[in-house]
Amino acid sequence: MHVSVIIPTYNEAENLPILIPQIFKIMHQNKLKAEVIIVDDDSPDRTWEIAQKLSSNLNMKVIRRINEKGLSSAVLEGFKHTESEILTVMDADLSHAPERIPEMVKLIQTGAADMVIGSRYIKNGKLKDWSYFRKFISKCATYMAKIVCDLRDPMSGFFSFKKQILNGVKLNPKGFKIGLEIIIKGNLKNITEIPITFTDRKFGESKLNQKVIFDYIFHLLALFSHKNPGPLEFLKFCVVGISGVFVNLFFYALMIYFFKISYLIAATISFCIAVSSNYYLNLNWTFRKNAVSPRGESYIKFVIISLVGYILNISVLYILVEKCGFHELISQLIAIIAATLNNFWGSKMWAFKKIRGQNANTN
Ligand code: GDD
Ligand code: MN
Repeated sequence: MHVSVIIPTYNEAENLPILIPQIFKIMHQNKLKAEVIIVDDDSPDRTWEIAQKLSSNLNMKVIRRINEKGLSSAVLEGFKHTESEILTVMDADLSHAPERIPEMVKLIQTGAADMVIGSRYIKNGKLKDWSYFRKFISKCATYMAKIVCDLRDPMSGFFSFKKQILNGVKLNPKGFKIGLEIIIKGNLKNITEIPITFTDRKFGESKLNQKVIFDYIFHLLALFSHKNPGPLEFLKFCVVGISGVFVNLFFYALMIYFFKISYLIAATISFCIAVSSNYYLNLNWTFRKNAVSPRGESYIKFVIISLVGYILNISVLYILVEKCGFHELISQLIAIIAATLNNFWGSKMWAFKKIRGQNANTN
């Protein structure tokens, strides 16, 4: 098998009888062996039934999902049933011309690319029959995607790729933009765009709505923090640190007022409790995407980092006040910043260091 073509469908009964024969004809003309996988979400217009009838003498699989809905998750479901090493995703509504598939496949077969995107926004690419309003929305969305990648049409729903780029990759099944998800998370070395002519659908209607646009914005933010985890991790780390101050104060007060324990012992115990709660929150929230070394080991490392941070805090404070003559409050602020940076880097690079090639369960 050369290529598996995955087509998500929802109410495409009028389009499939035109598209499917076209695909197999083109594949045959180009001497490509193909399978087509239809993933239908129990369409009210019984698209799945039409697909089943069409599949009787063709190399086709029809998956009818009853309890699940959504374009991206449908495409992911389709991936599971593929037999080829090259996968193509396209829409069912005749917007994407199957004539472009052989070129995509060839670029991948020859090793020129491991992902090929059918682009409307490069030279010779075209967008037919769209209203100015839809063009404008599409342009805005494409422009916004610049925060995560520099392609001309990363939102395209027509693309091909080598299956192995998804080995060990966990994709988010929500939303409309499964292509963008693969572009950002896949193990890609080279990605190419080839021009396509996108034709607006003649039958049925688009499923793009307001919610899709909102979801898209959140999706972009999630992808951005996937690519640049540092800033968000640092923010979370600081929130955890502040929570630790309150935990510390709470137990300290409890011990000195309620249990009448000596304040130095109380401070030591409450420090240990705060470090432990910080460890727990950092492990399960700040760095939850990292598969880290065993609990005991990462805990000991975190305690060491916290102690080093504490010593650093006191030392910087001492030097700034005694040797530089700085104000005590300013000195303490600088000392806290120094200790926080130390603790963050130590945590990120050592205690909660991501183990290469392993993904923690993130959903
Ligand atoms: N199984 C399933 N479940 N399929 C779905 C669902 C769903 O919930 N929603 C949409 N589809 C199928 C449609 O039947 C069609 O085959 C394809 O996904 C694209 O849906 P359209 O509703 O036609 O989307 P569009 O034309 O607005 O958007 C297309 O163009 C965009 C480019 O601007 C898609 O290709 C987008 O991915 C693309 O970004
Ligand atoms: Mn469409």
